[in-house]
Amino acid sequence: MQFPALRPRRLRENETIRRMVRETRLSVDDLIYPMFVIYGEGVRNPVPSMPGVFQLSVDQVVLEAEEVVKLGIPAVILFGIPEKKDEIGSGAYDDNGEVQQAIKALKDRFPELVVITDVCLCEYTSHGHCGLVDKGRILNDPTLELLARMAVSHARAGADMVAPSDMMDGRVAAIREKLDALGFKHVPIMAYSAKYASAFYGPFRDAAHSTPQFGDRRSYQMDPANSNEAIREVKLDIAEGADIVMVKPALSYLDIIRRVKEETGYPVAAYNVSGEYAMVKAAAAQGWIDEKKVVLELLTSMKRAGADMILTYHAKDVAKWLVEG
Ligand code: PBG
Repeated sequence: MQFPALRPRRLRENETIRRMVRETRLSVDDLIYPMFVIYGEGVRNPVPSMPGVFQLSVDQVVLEAEEVVKLGIPAVILFGIPEKKDEIGSGAYDDNGEVQQAIKALKDRFPELVVITDVCLCEYTSHGHCGLVDKGRILNDPTLELLARMAVSHARAGADMVAPSDMMDGRVAAIREKLDALGFKHVPIMAYSAKYASAFYGPFRDAAHSTPQFGDRRSYQMDPANSNEAIREVKLDIAEGADIVMVKPALSYLDIIRRVKEETGYPVAAYNVSGEYAMVKAAAAQGWIDEKKVVLELLTSMKRAGADMILTYHAKDVAKWLVEG
């Protein structure tokens, strides 16, 4: 009988040893909590496909953020749900819009909380697409001007960072140029660089009322089959001035997170999207999986792949669990 000469199990003997050799550690510092800001007052609408997530009016956003800050979560990202939508997404760059109001209220109450804003037209357009539309075609260049206006409007309200998620070509440069010209040189851009045309966004579109009214987003978001293209997209965004690059979704794209980290060395954000959240919540509600263990394993795998930060609807729970140990 030949006994093994090398025994990796020695370093798994007990929790103290495991703790010493652990390579990846999830921390509250990694978390970014997404919030949906809806028009109105005193509104707290549950999103059915995302248990625990709500559409919140500005006053409720502030209450929610109080909890976020207490838990030590460093940042939130805001999405808007306007009362009225139109062909050109006017609500997006309205200085009095719900997101702009939420930014002001949050920065007023919690100056240390990093407020990031999603920059995209789809929640504001009547057709639900991320850009202007002409005869069924999503127009690239005319959309850039509107995205830049939206980013400036957020910066003017006090946003700490803007995050374009539209996937138009050249948006990072357009936004950077406009921010710089109007006195917001200090505002970083977190670019949704490798954003895939994913079926995992379904629950988000319920939450944000942003389902496209015709067609789909495959003429601007990336084909899930592509990896080299993700690297080209990321490098383009970096060349245009992105400070942080994002891979979205996270779970089915851990290989992309790894490549982006290795090939750029840039700060990488991973978006643990709504469909990923909904799957976990649904299975946990049935008692089929252990929610806490599954979520911690998922988020740890995103970090292990190379993510420096994770946008996740689980953020508040994770922050609590990390304290519990
Ligand atoms: C806006 C946007 C979307 C998400 C983030 N920003 C929806 C989409 O592209 O259709 C999805 C986030 C999630 O699913 O949690 N373009």
